[in-house]
Amino acid sequence: MKTILITGATSGIGLAAACRIAAGGDRLVLVGRDPDRLASAADHVRASGAGAVDTQVCDIASQEAVRRLASAVLEHYSHLDVLANNAGGFFLRRDETGDGVEATFATDHLGGFLLTELLLDRLVHSAPARIVFTSSVMHYGTALDLDDLGCARGYSGQKAYSRSKLANVLYMRELARRLAGTGVTVNAFHPGAVSTGIWDFAPWFAKPVMAAAKRIFMVPAEEGGRRLAALATDPDLGAVTGCYFQKDRVRTPSRVARDDALGVRLTEVCANLVGLPTPSGTR
Ligand SMILES: NC(=O)c1ccc[n+]([C@@H]2O[C@H](COP(=O)([O-])OP(=O)(O)OC[C@H]3O[C@@H](n4cnc5c(N)ncnc54)[C@H](OP(=O)(O)O)[C@@H]3O)[C@@H](O)[C@H]2O)c1
Repeated sequence: MKTILITGATSGIGLAAACRIAAGGDRLVLVGRDPDRLASAADHVRASGAGAVDTQVCDIASQEAVRRLASAVLEHYSHLDVLANNAGGFFLRRDETGDGVEATFATDHLGGFLLTELLLDRLVHSAPARIVFTSSVMHYGTALDLDDLGCARGYSGQKAYSRSKLANVLYMRELARRLAGTGVTVNAFHPGAVSTGIWDFAPWFAKPVMAAAKRIFMVPAEEGGRRLAALATDPDLGAVTGCYFQKDRVRTPSRVARDDALGVRLTEVCANLVGLPTPSGTR
């Protein structure tokens, strides 16, 4: 029985992926920040047939909480087969976490970065293993300013979100290089335009338009979940690493996302932000 950890598992793509994976009888570790939503998600996933469903409460935007989560995972699971960094959010207004990190970057990239680095040895010892990042098509057409990762010099929700999703792809590629030959694969994907709660940021006057867009243009959460589940468990994808997927196909990520030197510098900056040494093998 495989052990598969999914962050952002209380709703949308993460929950749908967990239900789909559960049908295969594996052990799911669902991570969410709200105990009630987490308990209800676990009931849902159990009903889909999982071999076992465990829950871990963690605000992924809090470095202390991520460290506690990593300790709990290392204590409870001698084997970790899949880490799916899926939690994410969109913030209309700029905010900072208790760690002093802009909220979008903290939630959509840095939390997953820290969790991955803390669990990396366990994943390597569990090889073959997989790491998946839920990124976005919005990583195209944006740049990354390493001196202003929190968009303090000019914030928009879209800019902060796109940059965080670009950071996912840059880090994924750098990590895939570091992990070459270990049996641990790393990939990122765009789940599609998926009708989930992430669009709830829309102000009240835009809600009717958003509701119509969800109905007409977006795919249901199950479709996004299917794409995440495939990257996490499809045997045909077991050897694929360092790739960005869109519509179930490998697609060339943006030019900026392919800047290997930027991926290295981003890894160094993120390690510094979370108080870790630069990971060995970063080059
Ligand atoms: N929907 C789309 O069209 C789309 C497109 C591209 C990429 N994505 C990405 O897909 C991923 C999943 O989003 P979704 O569309 O499924 O939206 P969703 O239904 O809102 O799910 C987001 C998940 O992330 C969790 N989360 C948010 N902030 C968190 C925090 N600080 N700590 C722990 N968990 C947190 C949420 O937990 P709570 O229940 O506690 O809020 C929820 O489980 C995100 O990374 C998103 O950026 C979505």
